[in-house]
Amino acid sequence: MDINAFAPPIHFNIIWLDEVTSTNEVAKQMLLDKQASHGTMIIANYQTNGRGQLDNAWESESENNILCSFILEPAFLNLTHQTWFNMAMCLTVRDALAFYTKDVAIKWPNDIYINDKKVAGILIENTIQGSTIKNIVVGIGININQQKFSTQKATSLFNQTSNWYNRNDVLQQLINHITVRYKQLWLKQFDKINSDYHQVLYGINQILPFKTDTETFSGMIKRVNANGHLVVDKNGTEQEFMVKQISLV
Ligand code: BTN
Repeated sequence: MDINAFAPPIHFNIIWLDEVTSTNEVAKQMLLDKQASHGTMIIANYQTNGRGQLDNAWESESENNILCSFILEPAFLNLTHQTWFNMAMCLTVRDALAFYTKDVAIKWPNDIYINDKKVAGILIENTIQGSTIKNIVVGIGININQQKFSTQKATSLFNQTSNWYNRNDVLQQLINHITVRYKQLWLKQFDKINSDYHQVLYGINQILPFKTDTETFSGMIKRVNANGHLVVDKNGTEQEFMVKQISLV
């Protein structure tokens, strides 16, 4: 029996809108209204209230970038699998961009970097029912053709490669890679996802400056553990940090 034959395909239903508040908000509202389900993908040319992690705003010029939200209903996963799901989604975006350029890395927890600058971000929002995940909205913002940013830390595929990209082509890459990674999740190939993630994890095994609420220190990223926490070697002792507890300086 070929177990792969039973991996559930994602039938994408792409809804391309001109202007929305936030594609994640549209996706969540459509779920509430029962107008969307597994495979629905909301794309917008512009967001008036684009959101990032930790209550940050996500700003993006009109029509120059990818702003999208996938709805997935992985009934085969439970709450203990959330870290693998997050890693798989980071790998999806990383792999899609790696089709176009080298040195694409995942910066813990959910950022995609090229040459020390952020090119994409991912905002994952789960709806939990008991101990199961009812649905997940995976919001992805990728800077494609935008050339000017309000911060030095941001970049785009254009700025990195001096090429202009058709957003449809990059979307197709995203769809190809989400299909691959979703299948790995379905097959419970968590070791593979974990090892692929660590191969492209930004800063792993390098001495870097970190900042917490109370101090700045030099440390070395050792791994991201099964809880999704960052494990940092600080003066020879491993310490574990949750998302809001630590950042790179
Ligand atoms: C981050 O880096 O903080 C995450 C950014 C996520 C941005 C995307 S753009 C499409 C989707 N809609 C939103 O409002 N946010 C996500």
